[in-house]
Order: sequence, then structure tokens, then C-alpha cells
Amino acid sequence: MDESTPPKPVRVIALMNQKGGVGKTTTTVNLAAAIAQQGRKVLIIDLDPQAHATLHVGVEDNESPDSAPTVYDLLLDEDIDITDCIRTVDDNLEIIPAETDLAAVETELSGQAGRNQRLANAIARSSSDHEFILLDCPPALGLLTLNALAASQEVIIPMQAHFLALQGVSKLLETVGIVREQINPTLRVAGIVLCMHDSQTSHSKEVVSDLEQFFESQRDNGTAWASARVYRPPIRRNIKLAECPSFGQTIFQYAMWAPGALDYKKLGETITAEWDRALAVARSSELSDAEIRILKGAKESIEHRHPDEQHKEVQP
Ligand SMILES: Nc1ncnc2c1ncn2[C@@H]1O[C@H](COP(=O)(O)OP(=O)(O)OP(=O)(O)O)[C@@H](O)[C@H]1O
Ligand SMILES: [Mg+2]
Repeated sequence: MDESTPPKPVRVIALMNQKGGVGKTTTTVNLAAAIAQQGRKVLIIDLDPQAHATLHVGVEDNESPDSAPTVYDLLLDEDIDITDCIRTVDDNLEIIPAETDLAAVETELSGQAGRNQRLANAIARSSSDHEFILLDCPPALGLLTLNALAASQEVIIPMQAHFLALQGVSKLLETVGIVREQINPTLRVAGIVLCMHDSQTSHSKEVVSDLEQFFESQRDNGTAWASARVYRPPIRRNIKLAECPSFGQTIFQYAMWAPGALDYKKLGETITAEWDRALAVARSSELSDAEIRILKGAKESIEHRHPDEQHKEVQP
């Protein structure tokens, strides 16, 4: 790398939707795997006590006392480094696993100063060399999700194109807006990934069109979702995607030519292409405000925040 090239910032993305079963874990794991297949180093952090992402990539139960630390230990013990918790999944793909005890973090951290910032601080102090960190959130707006939002530059919302899901999205945007105001001023909604999608029905076409019109109407209005988009391609409903977790494999390990693998591969290309464009712009020193916000990242935002602000808490 040429000496004038700035260090690669890490792109931290929370995959979040408080609604259950919408495709958060499937998207976290397979989008991470798609990006890793491009030769970019990716870390998945499983923040869900259900540990579905951990199981999806075939990492064993970690509850024996001798096993390496998990995300539970990372959140509770500030002496533990991210690199101590990592398990290798595949080339360029690593995970920090969850365990069922993770649910106890909510009570163990309650009342503690800076409890929302535990993950952000762990990422900021780590010397790990990942280019992308994808956070699999639980289907609830508790302390674990708040830690994910405090640590991320971006939120991607996996959802299904149903009218009722639209209502959930407005609540979710409101939450992201509150977190941005109170604990993470660089947080933005990157967009929506449509999961288990059936593009043929007029119902799903209407929902997608409503979403796009809504985001267009919000451009440059200063909200966390002012630059959000509906990502292409949507992820088609594909039985191979539902099967691969039970084999502890990503879709690329299980059925790399299945429609689900092709969709996540293209989505991965979209995600890395937009990141590369932002990095190229940064190198040419022609940064727009929006791009500066993306590039600053969790690390810098924490380092530059006033110590009092680091301890601000928001209630979900
Ligand atoms: N595109 C798809 N085609 C077929 N099945 C899918 C697809 N995406 C996800 N699924 C299946 O749908 C179910 C829910 O998906 P997933 O576990 O990813 O959702 P989630 O939002 O993480 O759920 P939770 O809220 O419980 O964490 C799983 O059984 C998964 O295998
Ligand atoms: Mg999940």
C-alpha cells in the first residue's frame, strides 16, 4: 500500500429488526460470507442469545468453562480483546460466538455507567484487521441491540415485503433516530434488504414501491435514514438458505450455485462497491458530509466524544 493511502477504516454494520424471523441471521451470515469470498476480511459478532449465527456457521457450544471467551465475556470484561474471542469459519471469515448466557448481560450490566458502549469500546480498542464487521442483533430493542447501534456506523434492516412490516420499520427508524441523537451521532440507516422475497406478487411490488417513495421523500432531511435505499437484489425465498444452518454451513459452503447464494453474492458486491466508492472519494480528499460520516467510523466517533457523553444512556 502506498504511504499516502489512508488506513482502511472498518465498516461496522448492525443487521437489525425488532421483528423476529425476518432474515437477520441468514443475511448476516451469508452476506458476511459473500464479502469474505471477495477476499475482504469479515467478522461476524453474534449478539443474539439464541446464538443462531454461531450455530449457522457450525461453531460448537461454548459453555464449558475452558472454552475461549464469547461475546458475553467481551461485553462484561473490559480486559478482554476482540482477538481473544474470535473463531475462524472460513477464509477471511471469522465469528465471535454467542452463548445462551448472553441473555444475562441485560441484568448484569444494568445500572452500570457506559453499559451501551461496551461493544463500541471493544471495537475501538481492538487491533483486529477486519474490513467489515457485521452484527447479528436479537429481535428485541434491549441492551444488546443498543450496544450494536452504539458500535455501528450503519444499520441494514432485513425485512419481508409485507404491509404490516412497514409499520415495524417506522418504529425501528424512530429508535435509530433516538440512538443517533443520544449516543452515536454518526449512525445512519444504509438501507433495507428484502428477504424471502417473491417479486411476482402485486402486494410485494406495492410495498417495495412504498418504501422507495418514502426514502426518496426523506433525502437530505438530516435524519439517520436520509440516504437509505432498498438494496438490490432482493433475496429470493430459497429452501437451500433454510437448510444450510442445520449443516453448520454458509450458503456458499452448502450450495454455492443455489439462487440464495447468487443473491447474497450480488448483494455482497453491492455492499463492497459502495464502500470502495466511499474510500476512493476519501482518498481523493473530496469528501461530502455524508461520506465523512460513513468513513469516520465507530473508532473515531468514540475517541473524539466527550467522556461525559460516552456514559449517556438511552432507554429502549
Ligand atoms: N431467503 C430465504 N429463503 C428461505 N428461507 C429463509 C430465507 N431467509 C431466511 N429463511 C429462513 O427463515 C427463518 C428465519 O430467518 P432468520 O433466522 O434469518 O431470521 P431472524 O430475523 O434472524 O430471526 P430471529 O428474529 O429469531 O433472530 C429461518 O428458518 C431461515 O432459515
Ligand atoms: Mg436471528
